[in-house]
Amino acid sequence: MLILSVESSCDETAVAITRDGREILSDKVASQVEMHALYGGVVPEIASRRHAEAIEGLYREAIREAGIEPRDIDAIAATFAPGLIGALLVGLNFAKGLAFSLGKPLVPVHHHRGHVAANYLAHPELEPPFCALVASGGHTLILGVDGYTDYRILGCTRDDSAGEAFDKVARVMGLGYPGGVEIDRIAEGHDETAYKLPRAKVSGSPHDMSFSGLKTAMINTVHNAEQKGDTLNIGDLAASFRRAVVDEIVPRVIDCAVSEGYKTVVLAGGVAANARLREAMTDAAEKRGLRLYLPPKKLCGDAAAMIGAQGYYEFIAGHTGDMSQNAYASLTADYTTLPER
Ligand code: KG4
Ligand code: ZN
Repeated sequence: MLILSVESSCDETAVAITRDGREILSDKVASQVEMHALYGGVVPEIASRRHAEAIEGLYREAIREAGIEPRDIDAIAATFAPGLIGALLVGLNFAKGLAFSLGKPLVPVHHHRGHVAANYLAHPELEPPFCALVASGGHTLILGVDGYTDYRILGCTRDDSAGEAFDKVARVMGLGYPGGVEIDRIAEGHDETAYKLPRAKVSGSPHDMSFSGLKTAMINTVHNAEQKGDTLNIGDLAASFRRAVVDEIVPRVIDCAVSEGYKTVVLAGGVAANARLREAMTDAAEKRGLRLYLPPKKLCGDAAAMIGAQGYYEFIAGHTGDMSQNAYASLTADYTTLPER
């Protein structure tokens, strides 16, 4: 089954062709990062306009590169939640137009389920059930994936997402946007014990996380040094921060997987590209006898192939939409029915 998929929830416009949820025929992404970097973060209005400008060209390229004709497509999948509402609507409306004109089914796909499904493209043997960490720019969640479309939320951040913390801290440190990539790069080979940074204690759920205290501590460290005229070792500071984020995430995910009886752990989302997180998760999973799946770095960030992968399983489950399909800025991955329009 060939699926044409569209992703436009944030600052990447993307169109892909995938087969049976497991194989990429083409995966075209137009990043807006350079534009948003001028402002130090995503500007929603600019994002929507850029999506509208880029999407048709990407569609044509995706079809051409896959070596197919539009009539060969069996279904059109699109991200419908969560994300920037204006940005989501550009991709979803394009997908609706295509589904209508080609007379093919429309498959609405949740962005976080898509991130998880990126792993199906890289690991043919991977099947639910498993425990997944989705760590992106907007969310940090531990999910129980009991079936391809059967999700439970087992833990989440109480405040900022890990990606947001990376991006904000990078900005204060004078590094580029998006910050996660820069901090990861600069931290490499540096002393991660050089700066003492707090570790959060979240009362209540043992699997919930918090990153805002850590973010504030980093901002204070930078500002205090500026005021006193001290020189910071940026590499060591980046390494210490990256380690603190990893310490917040890894034990929570591993303990959650073990306590819920999962044998397999899957990482997903932009932050899953983090070198230290991948290393620490690999060690921790091995120690606790868990099988770990990491998406290749190129499948961690936002793209459309992951939406096509999940779209295939949503389609199999009968989760199709129609021309009244709406987009939702916030909707959790464990939805079973869609909110009223
Ligand atoms: O999943 P994603 O591409 O987009 C959203 O759905 O938000 O995630 C983007 C986030 C950004 O916050 C970015 O800084 C972070 O992923 N990120 C990283 C790395 N690469 C991207 N964070 C830490 N280390 C990285 N190597
Ligand atoms: Zn994402």
